[in-house]
Amino acid sequence: MTRLVVVSNRVPSAAELAPGQEGAAVVGGLVSAVKTLMLRQQGLWMGWSGRTTTRRRSDPPTIELSGGPVELATIDLTLDESNLYYLGFSNRTLWPLFHTFPERVDVRHDTFRAYQRVNERFATSLFPLLGKNDLVWVHDYQLILVGEYLRRLGWKGKIGFFLHIPFPSPDVFEILPWARDLLNGLLEYDLLGFHTQRYRQNFVDVMDREVGGIWNDPHYAVGDRTVKVRKFPIGIEPGTFHDAAMASTTSVSTELSLPNDDDHKIVVGVDRLDYTKGIPERLKAFERMLDRHANMRGRVTLVQVTQPSRSRVREYIEEREKVERLVGQVNGRYSDAAWVPIRYLYRFFPQTQLARFYHDSHVGMITPLRDGMNLIAKEYIAAQGEDPGVLVLSKFSGAAVELTEATQVNPYDTDGTAEQLYQALRMPHTERVRRWRSQMNAVTENTARTWGESFFQELQLS
Ligand code: F6P
Repeated sequence: MTRLVVVSNRVPSAAELAPGQEGAAVVGGLVSAVKTLMLRQQGLWMGWSGRTTTRRRSDPPTIELSGGPVELATIDLTLDESNLYYLGFSNRTLWPLFHTFPERVDVRHDTFRAYQRVNERFATSLFPLLGKNDLVWVHDYQLILVGEYLRRLGWKGKIGFFLHIPFPSPDVFEILPWARDLLNGLLEYDLLGFHTQRYRQNFVDVMDREVGGIWNDPHYAVGDRTVKVRKFPIGIEPGTFHDAAMASTTSVSTELSLPNDDDHKIVVGVDRLDYTKGIPERLKAFERMLDRHANMRGRVTLVQVTQPSRSRVREYIEEREKVERLVGQVNGRYSDAAWVPIRYLYRFFPQTQLARFYHDSHVGMITPLRDGMNLIAKEYIAAQGEDPGVLVLSKFSGAAVELTEATQVNPYDTDGTAEQLYQALRMPHTERVRRWRSQMNAVTENTARTWGESFFQELQLS
């Protein structure tokens, strides 16, 4: 049997992979989707332990193996590597670049060198663990060069790469002085996967401009290298999610002591704290809705769950300050003895509790400024029941391609978003049900399972 070897920067803890832990808190879509696949596949999953050590650069890499249904192989990073590779090049250069925030892109040669070194260390640590029939699947922007380093070590087997975030247009990508290095690295894979047709097309356009090869859909060829390029929209396990919503006994009204009557509406937003998620823009749109529609004051609460993320990166510290200032501003302006318009929760919640929040709310507001897919939008749909809430979804998320019956908004347009939110709060039951059914079909069609299986099969065929 072919063994699947997954490589990603972040891995779940061994405890999270234990049976019965499906509802545990997981940060980001990558781990939650890959976890589903790996629990089925029982392969090897390699990544950063999340720890930093004082190892010297010249020390040989050490790898720790967990045992268990999914074998976890983890390496530590030094503090310097974590600062330069993870906080630096991955999250202050590639993250803003790929999400089309060019003014935030930090161009530093030392962080790129650290990125190369850490990618190489992932490859040298993994190589001795590989068997000749293994399929290697590398994930995300932190590890683009792992495939190339594995090839240099002599690995001849199949390697696939999936990008969990958007791929930008050539005008943005070429800002990076190491654009060619990354593209050459991508050419070493057998299969490249993107969430949407648009990201895939951007990749082809960037290759045409920067490298100049031959595109014969779905293959891109440069010299003797050919890579297959496909879209694989990532999904969730809708059944598991719906069950999770039903299993949680604490309703959002009980948890937050909100009025529990039909006349009081709940809007829910759940995000990692990240400037790409458009949280300040959402808060402003909510405030604008209250400004314009006095009848909603005292009758609607925005529950904003914000999960701490990358909290040592300056931009994230600033974003948190911005969000908290705005929450204070809106609440200071509108709260009265009986009502606080925004309930802001800066912490992690288990998935079961989040699912219940989605289920109980009247509107889910998922309004990123740019997002590769956004699985929370799909989770929101899966958690609904007989009396479904309305999904207000950014047109700049990958999920908007599939969830065409969501109320789609441009989060940069405060007035427009405020108005769409107001309409969503008043949407009649029949229309809510019609739209939800159509979105549920989409969520059921592309699941975490079909995503993982189709990539795996395609990689085998490559
Ligand atoms: O899905 C995008 C992604 O960056 C993943 O690669 C990552 O694991 C997740 O979001 C959370 O980010 P981080 O690992 O930096 O906390």
